[in-house]
Formats: sequence, C-alpha cells, structure tokens
Amino acid sequence: MTRILMVCLGNICRSPLAEGILKSKLNADSFFVDSAGTANYHTGSQPDRRSIAVARKYGLEIAHLRGRQFTVNDFDDFDFIYVMDESNYHNVTRLARNEDDTEKVNMILNEVYPNQNYDVPDPYYGGDQGFENVYKMLDEACSVIAENLS
Ligand code: 4NP
Repeated sequence: MTRILMVCLGNICRSPLAEGILKSKLNADSFFVDSAGTANYHTGSQPDRRSIAVARKYGLEIAHLRGRQFTVNDFDDFDFIYVMDESNYHNVTRLARNEDDTEKVNMILNEVYPNQNYDVPDPYYGGDQGFENVYKMLDEACSVIAENLS
C-alpha cells in the first residue's frame, strides 16, 4: 500500500478536493489517500460547501470527509505528503524530526512545474471562481502524481 497525504491550512477547501481527485485516479487496493490541515479550526467539519459543489460538478463526492489536524505521526503513516502552499510547507516541515520526514514533503504544484514552488491559492475568502481554479490546478497535479505512481 502506498500512502499519500494532502495538506492545507483548514482541511476544508483545498486538501479535501485534492484527496477526492487523487483517489479518483488511483486504485484503492494499492493506494491510501487522506488529507489534513495544519490548523485545528475545522476538526470534525465537512468540506466547505463550495469545494463540495465544484467536486460534484466534476462527478466526485467529498461531502463525507471530515477535517482533522496534521500530526507528527503522519510522517510515519504516509509515504508522500503534498502541501498546497509555502506556508503549509513551513508548518509541516517544522514538525519534521529528521531528514527522512522532510523529504516526504513536497509542494503539490511542483509535480506540474518542477522547482517553481507555486502556491495553490487559498480560495476560502474568495468566490466560486477561486474554487474552480483550485479544482483545475489540483486535477492537473493529481494526474501527474497518479501517472508517476501507477
Ligand atoms: P483550506 O482553506 O486551507 O484550503 O482548507 C481555508 C479554510 C479555512 C480557513 C483558512 C483557509 N480559516 O481561516 O478558517
């Protein structure tokens, strides 16, 4: 089993979408995909209604997901940790215990644009178009991840 964790700040907008999208591209018998937030504001919450809506628009159901906070144990439980932006990168890697932990963490858009460190912008305070943009970015990145892993 290869285990992949998607991480953002709240675990209600970007990372649940990334989780749903990547799951849809991988065989569940061989890959476990989860998501988490660096903050604990939305522990136990459903994804944002705008993330649920854009996922449904593209045929994915993510309404059953619930928010949880990233913990140091996630370095043991996952093989690959994808963060959405530079702030997530710092919040996750500062919990790393060693070089192996740090090496598991990558910015998700570097899968599409290597070494550019582009952010998936936080759509929380914007409108629906922000969620559409985030969906497209994540779909592209998850296609590359799935191709490389399969
Ligand atoms: P996410 O978006 O990190 O993509 O889940 C956010 C959701 C909530 C908040 C910030 C970002 N918040 O401040 O509550």
